[in-house]
Parts: sequence; C-alpha cells; structure tokens
Amino acid sequence: MEIVICKSKEEASRKAADMIAALVKKNPKCVLGLATGSTPVAMYSELAKDVKAKKISFKQVKTWNLDEYYGLAPTHDQSYRYFMNENLFKKIDIQLKNTHVLNGLAKNPEKECKSYEAAIKRAGGIDLQVLGIGSDGHIAFNEPGTSLKSRTSMVHLTPSTIKDNARLFFGGNMDEVPKSALSMGVGTICEAKKIVLLAFGAGKADAVKGMVEGGMSQFCTASALQAHNDAWVFCDEAAASKLKLKEYYAWRSETVLKG
Ligand code: F6R
Repeated sequence: MEIVICKSKEEASRKAADMIAALVKKNPKCVLGLATGSTPVAMYSELAKDVKAKKISFKQVKTWNLDEYYGLAPTHDQSYRYFMNENLFKKIDIQLKNTHVLNGLAKNPEKECKSYEAAIKRAGGIDLQVLGIGSDGHIAFNEPGTSLKSRTSMVHLTPSTIKDNARLFFGGNMDEVPKSALSMGVGTICEAKKIVLLAFGAGKADAVKGMVEGGMSQFCTASALQAHNDAWVFCDEAAASKLKLKEYYAWRSETVLKG
C-alpha cells in the first residue's frame, strides 16, 4: 500500500485525479469503479476540468459504482445514482448507458447483486477502483464484522455510519437514512487491478491508522487492502496524523511517484 500524504485535500484530490486521468489516457476503454460520499467530490471536479480542457475523454469509459441505499429510487435526490449524475456524469462526456449503479429498488436483491458482478466480469474486471473510508474503517458499505472475502450483497449499516451519513446528507435526519444497502463486497473490491482510496480530515485518522498499521481484520474492512499489490491512499495531513511511520510513507511515495 502506498500512502501519499498531501498538505491539503485539494492537493490530494488533484494527485488522485492525475492517476485516473493517466489511466483514461492510456486506456480510453478502461473500466472504473466509483465511490460516492463527500470525499471524492473534489477529485471528480478535477476530472471534469480535465475533460473540459480536452485533456481526457470518458466517451468509451465504463463505470460501476460501489453501492446504493436499499429502498431508494435512482431519481431520489439522496440516492447514489442521483449523486453520481450530479457530481460527475453530467460534468463529463461519459455515455450514461456505460455507467452502472446497483438498483436500490431491486425486488430480488440477491439476483441484482449476482448480475452486477457478472456484468463487471464481462467487462473484463475493474481497472481502477476509487474508494473513500468510513470513520469505522468501512469500504463501500462493508461494516465491521464483514468477511474480507465478501461478495456484492445486501448489507446493513451500523449506527455510526447512519449518523455520519445523516450529518453530511439527508438534511441531518438519521431517521431518513436507509438502514440497508446493496454493496460490492470486500472480496469484489480487492479484485480491482488498482485501488485509489481518499481520506480527509481528523475524523478519518483512526480509520486510516487501522487500515494501514492495524492487523488485517474484518473489524476494519479497509485493512483488506494491505493484501492488494497496487493500492494507493491519498490523504491530507489530518487523516494521516495517527500513522506511526508517516515520514517514511511520505518519502517512499515521493520516490515511487517520481520514479
Ligand atoms: C460511498 C461509500 C462509502 C464512503 C464512506 C466515506 O460510495 O462506499 O464507503 O466512501 O462512507 O464517506 P464520506 O466520503 O462521505 O466521508
């Protein structure tokens, strides 16, 4: 795992966007895995700037999102499909038919999850997966206690995630946050060829510490990335503040990025 510690969220978002832009340039037909939440928004804006400046094009790119609240229609303004349309897809030249988000209204969630995974496989697998991290160390909606080999399935949110999500979305109302979701599994995520995880702010410092320097455990599902051989963490100084070896990681990522 490479840890890139930046002075600010803006700098980290730009560096992560550069990594994605380089892939899209090299392979215009690449397959991206995408995340929602507050964290990737600045990076998505940077990618939109690159498209506007005609540096890259998403015309042939295909995307699969990590997760969706169960019970929310794609048109609901708090659904993850709506979020992606507003924060990225409408701002770039991607074809909407090439973008995929789990159907939160699926009558048969198990079937929906299986066909989602099959579609990713048919597309050749995910070349680069974007991730955020929950304050409890979750990736996608894989809460503490989820198997590190889990596959895409129906999952249930912890009270702390419901609280975090209500704070940032749903007008602060915890009762409005769905308690279940459809989510890519940890095992599914780890099959991506490259991983770019973003983490900002002191509220993520414990989660980042657990992911990078804790033991690999289902109690911090992001720690599964320790076994991935091309995983990059772009964070600000606040999110990195509890890392024991932060000077080493900073030096190493500088060398690797430049090399
Ligand atoms: C979003 C997702 C979640 C978020 C995480 C952090 O698709 O899968 O794991 O990445 O909850 O959320 P924010 O970025 O809002 O702090």
